[in-house]
Amino acid sequence: MGRETALARTEAIYERIRRIVPRAEWIGFADDVDAILRLKRERNAVILAHNYQTPEIFHGVADLVGDSLALARMARDTEAEVIVMAGVHFMAETAKLLNPDRTVLIPDMEAGCSLADSITPADIRALRAAHPGLPVVTYVNTSAAVKAESDICCTSGNARAVVESLGVPRVIMLPDEYLARNIAAETDVEIVTWPGHCEVHERFTPAEVRELREAYPGVVVLAHPECPPDVVAEADFSGSTAGMSAYVATHKPPRLVLLTECSMSDNVALGHPDLDFIRPCNLCPHMKRITLGNIRRALEENRHEVTIETGLAAPARRAVERMLAVA
Ligand code: 13P
Ligand code: SF4
Repeated sequence: MGRETALARTEAIYERIRRIVPRAEWIGFADDVDAILRLKRERNAVILAHNYQTPEIFHGVADLVGDSLALARMARDTEAEVIVMAGVHFMAETAKLLNPDRTVLIPDMEAGCSLADSITPADIRALRAAHPGLPVVTYVNTSAAVKAESDICCTSGNARAVVESLGVPRVIMLPDEYLARNIAAETDVEIVTWPGHCEVHERFTPAEVRELREAYPGVVVLAHPECPPDVVAEADFSGSTAGMSAYVATHKPPRLVLLTECSMSDNVALGHPDLDFIRPCNLCPHMKRITLGNIRRALEENRHEVTIETGLAAPARRAVERMLAVA
């Protein structure tokens, strides 16, 4: 009886994703979705979801969705008392930095990121010593401790604007070597890199792009700038996850492939039933730790609350706010 009621109450939501999510799966989701909608009202909570979240989260329970830059802005601006981050830990930390008076919850503390794990504050201090006077531009895919050692942050959506805003001929950009090299190809600013990589995007290869073009004539290839530069060079467009969504909405390529995390294609395809999405699938195991079940528990049990060590919050916030002032 309870399940039937939850199914009935969530039917309109299911209608939005039925092309991707089979009815049999939704029967298993409906109870959690129904409970999460109630808990959000009771706790004055919002769910912020990254573009890589699965469709039942992204289209089913999220209030606000976007790329890292959009999520940071939304976290700063929300009036809700509780922010649940359906994303990875650095995104939740950024939300807490920008809205310290709110409760910020992440449904799984282990939802990390290979880029965030690739660098420590001590590494930045060593880089500064090796390159005296160069400003440090830090990708948001890092811990608060690393941000606190940085001059300014960037995301894949504003990296070039941030680098050029500094008005200097040379910068350090870390930890994503490929993002840094892809931006270096677009600007006259010289960039010192760090050998961090995204474990999802580093797997794409130029040979794979050529094979896709051969197998699917006319396919338009969109690549995230965390992909290796030789992959980006073979693509028709490169941009952040929001940049790729906007490209699809504007250009409506009849046949396309997004070289990024798998769920992104599902989420974008739902808005464009007429387009033919080719879907090579690279999953982010960290993003996939977030589920309807642990979002529900996060709201029921107020866990896991994200906190920032005293002493780190002010300098880390300054680097993120400096970024938001640029673009
Ligand atoms: P975006 O800022 O483009 O959404 O990228 C975040 C991310 O983690 C990509 O792997
Ligand atoms: Fe980190 Fe890559 Fe996963 Fe994004 S897709 S969260 S960069 S590991």
